[in-house]
Amino acid sequence: MKEYKIPRSLVHLTHKTMRDEIMEKFESVLLSEYSVGAHLAGEQLEKEFLKYIGHEYVTGVHSATMGMLIGLRACGVKKGDEVITVGNSDISTTAAIHSIGAVSVLCDIKLEDYTIDPSKVEALITDRTSAILPVDMYGHPADVKKLRLIANKFNLSIVQDAALALGGSDYDLPVGSYADIVVFSFAPLKPMGCLGNGGMVATSSPDLHQAVKLLTGYGHAGGFEGMKIGHQDHIDEGYNVPIDPFQAALVSVKLHKLDEWTKRRREIVDLYSKHLQGHDLHLPKFRADSDPTYRCYTVCVGDQSRILKALREEGVEAVLHYVPPVYKQSVYKDTSLSEANLPMTDKVTDSLLCLPVSPELSDEQVMDVIAIFNKIM
Ligand SMILES: Cc1ncc(COP(=O)(O)O)c(C=O)c1O
Repeated sequence: MKEYKIPRSLVHLTHKTMRDEIMEKFESVLLSEYSVGAHLAGEQLEKEFLKYIGHEYVTGVHSATMGMLIGLRACGVKKGDEVITVGNSDISTTAAIHSIGAVSVLCDIKLEDYTIDPSKVEALITDRTSAILPVDMYGHPADVKKLRLIANKFNLSIVQDAALALGGSDYDLPVGSYADIVVFSFAPLKPMGCLGNGGMVATSSPDLHQAVKLLTGYGHAGGFEGMKIGHQDHIDEGYNVPIDPFQAALVSVKLHKLDEWTKRRREIVDLYSKHLQGHDLHLPKFRADSDPTYRCYTVCVGDQSRILKALREEGVEAVLHYVPPVYKQSVYKDTSLSEANLPMTDKVTDSLLCLPVSPELSDEQVMDVIAIFNKIM
């Protein structure tokens, strides 16, 4: 494995400094009484998590991928329905839609912040459209306030993929507040990572919450509570995907640091945006009313592959996150997705580069990346 001078994640350093707290929590999980299904650690995290979001109910789930699948199903999205989303996301976004038998309809993005372009959504709505699935790519909040107006006009649900955006805010509200359901990820490279997989589904609707809980716990009539007495009546075909107790415990220990780390991510991005320079360099621009999280700092350059290679050779673990866009990937080559005409998405994915933004990075390390980048440019 190549050692990078500036890797894309330095989370192990945080884990070292928080070692005692983490080990204590792990031990309490290990030695706690056995409980069927959802573990107490997951329930505790759910309670704590509510402070960081704009919704009233949460469910800890195995991953954001499962959270989106369940969220869409909870909103009533079914086989044959169309869901409007973007083409520059992780495969899990379209995979969640297709796992239900629904169809992804791809909308182009804005060149400024790489998120869905609300002005292009209405033209994609048909009789079969039932939901919009915006993605807060790189932690940049999609303009879900605008999408809400469209969704209300056409009676559509919004399931927001905020896998990368925990800690961000939009129009002075925590990210996800305008969605019917918002989904966060705790996968290791996310702004609040655990060690394996984990995610959280949030909503303010008691009915949607009940549906999410049901689908997270097998679709069992009594949820995990009912299963404790061995009772078996399933009112839906659900999944067995509560958050794993050790992952929940780790997130629980780290969660109070979220605001501090988000602030540090923003400071790092300020340094990048002030000092990066070069011919053919495009820096993202954000709506004045949004405050991104910055999983990484994503810039666009004229010669993506040369600059990526040079950065990595110089010890900076830059990545292409995600390239190619889903509609150009092999898995969709025989589907209608391969015919997508998304000029802005093409432009961004043909030129993007993601630079490291770990809260553990010092200013000196960031300035080092900047010096290397500027030299290569
Ligand atoms: C934008 C986006 N959405 C969803 C996911 C899926 O998250 P998870 O790994 O928790 O399923 C990812 C994972 O990288 C992602 O980047």
